[in-house]
Amino acid sequence: MAVAVRETSGSLADEERRRIVYDGGLLIFEKVPPMEELCAFADDLIRFTLDTRDPVMAQFEMDRDDYLARVATLQKRFREHAEARRLFVAALEWVGVDLGRTCWDRLYLRVLPSGEEYASGRAAKLGFHRDTWSSNVYSQTNWWAPIYPITAGRTLAFYPGYWSRPLKNTSGAWDLEEVRVRRRAGEPVALVPEPDERVDAASELRIAVEPGGLLCFSGAHLHAAVPNSTGLARFSVEVRTVDAGDAALNVGAPNVDGEAPRIASGWFRGVLDGTPLPEVMASGDPDDRRAEMGYGR
Ligand SMILES: [Fe+2]
Repeated sequence: MAVAVRETSGSLADEERRRIVYDGGLLIFEKVPPMEELCAFADDLIRFTLDTRDPVMAQFEMDRDDYLARVATLQKRFREHAEARRLFVAALEWVGVDLGRTCWDRLYLRVLPSGEEYASGRAAKLGFHRDTWSSNVYSQTNWWAPIYPITAGRTLAFYPGYWSRPLKNTSGAWDLEEVRVRRRAGEPVALVPEPDERVDAASELRIAVEPGGLLCFSGAHLHAAVPNSTGLARFSVEVRTVDAGDAALNVGAPNVDGEAPRIASGWFRGVLDGTPLPEVMASGDPDDRRAEMGYGR
């Protein structure tokens, strides 16, 4: 299929955005003011926590263990910081997301250092995957944004040839609890389901968004982090959202090859009130709840 990449400098009506995403479109919202603020906020936090004047080169100023320990602290600080959350919520609202209907998981600051020595462990890149192989939620929408300028050598790659083409994968036997237990025991284990056959990368599309921009795509897209050998680290932020109304009605991207035994709707909570998605879905029409909560009046 021809996957459309659509760049927009304003907002989009939420319903239209969801329809484009469920159809496999890749949306780039450019120059989103709260994202520009979030980049500046993250830059301060990164410089302070990594104790560096040059965040994208910081890996060369200290040894690997020290760097990874600082990255772990940085990720924790970012995840728990109210300002990061406030700005990301503002960015979603600015691009047109109807927050009263929307659930999300956790804000995550991802660091992808350059070079082979970081190919395993905390800062390892994710290979080919669809997020839906693990979540099994087909209305899941991914939001991704770089903090510093990126290039085709350190960004995300998409494989739109697989939007409607199945790829053999390990989702059928994937169990998050087992992954957690094995990780705690120090065993090597794949964090997300993986392809179980060779991937045909002919349709690869590398998308380099400018800082301040926000990339929005279906969790059902086959994607991967590009192996970074650019000599500069990649810093990006991401979160996943689910529209509660669509999830309740089973509206979303097509499932072409996911076989996860469970639906992980419990990973998602209301952006505005923290209610777990299964409860939101059980409580009826999100627009009614939205009115009850006083939004949209
Ligand atoms: Fe992903």
